[in-house]
Amino acid sequence: MTNQPIGVFDSGYGGLTVLREIVRQLPQYDYLYLGDNARTPYGTRSFDTVYQYTLECVRHLFDRGCRLVVLACNTASAKALRNIQQLDLPTLAPDRRVLGVIRPTAEVIGRYSKTGNVGILATPGTVTSESYRVEIEKFFPDLQVSQEACPMWVPLVENGEYDSPGADYFVQQHLNRLMEKAPGIDTILLACTHYPLLLDKIRQYTPGNATILTQGGIVADSLADYLTRHPELERQISQHGKRTFLTTDSTDDFDRQATVFYGEPVRSGQV
Ligand code: DGL
Repeated sequence: MTNQPIGVFDSGYGGLTVLREIVRQLPQYDYLYLGDNARTPYGTRSFDTVYQYTLECVRHLFDRGCRLVVLACNTASAKALRNIQQLDLPTLAPDRRVLGVIRPTAEVIGRYSKTGNVGILATPGTVTSESYRVEIEKFFPDLQVSQEACPMWVPLVENGEYDSPGADYFVQQHLNRLMEKAPGIDTILLACTHYPLLLDKIRQYTPGNATILTQGGIVADSLADYLTRHPELERQISQHGKRTFLTTDSTDDFDRQATVFYGEPVRSGQV
């Protein structure tokens, strides 16, 4: 097969903020992005539903030639990745790989904090899964982790309301709640790939000079390192600098919105 792109998956547009950084760092590869816009948001859905939806999308990316798929969605990484890796891949596609965004972030987050106190802003699904606490403890056992679920943030972003006064209200509300949990927090992770669109407002309502971390660069660094450590897989990825975008919903809507997330014009196809 000559068309073997790297698959990048998200419940909607958020993964484009990750793809953007991956492409910046690894422009030579082909990429196939799939946004499940018709069924977004995932963050308020059950474990089983997120697992089932994510698996369907991963299978679709496999059918289109991807040998490596990045789940550029924290909710899918929290609720579906382990099952896919342990239960599905061995029978479905033992020679293919699916990676997530939580572990690479957990591996580095402790380096940013001086106070040893970090805050995680994420979807309800990611927060209740406790995946961040579990993963961070493996690398930084002394780090204090406080979490705040922000159920309104993805709908605000998906509906293009990230610049509206309504967004101010919900951004301020959740940042205040997070800081009340542990006033010493000096590092805040945007643990949802949609949240970088709210970055200006998040900065505005973040007290003091806490560092705000987005995941795009972290995931891109980790993918570059993974490909170096797995040359047998890296050799199979097609390298024509081609980007293809797919959505499960309207392509017109996708193309209009995706440009904001990806930073350049996008033309999608429908699945
Ligand atoms: N962008 C996804 C994440 O990183 C979730 C968005 C959703 O709720 O669908 O968690």
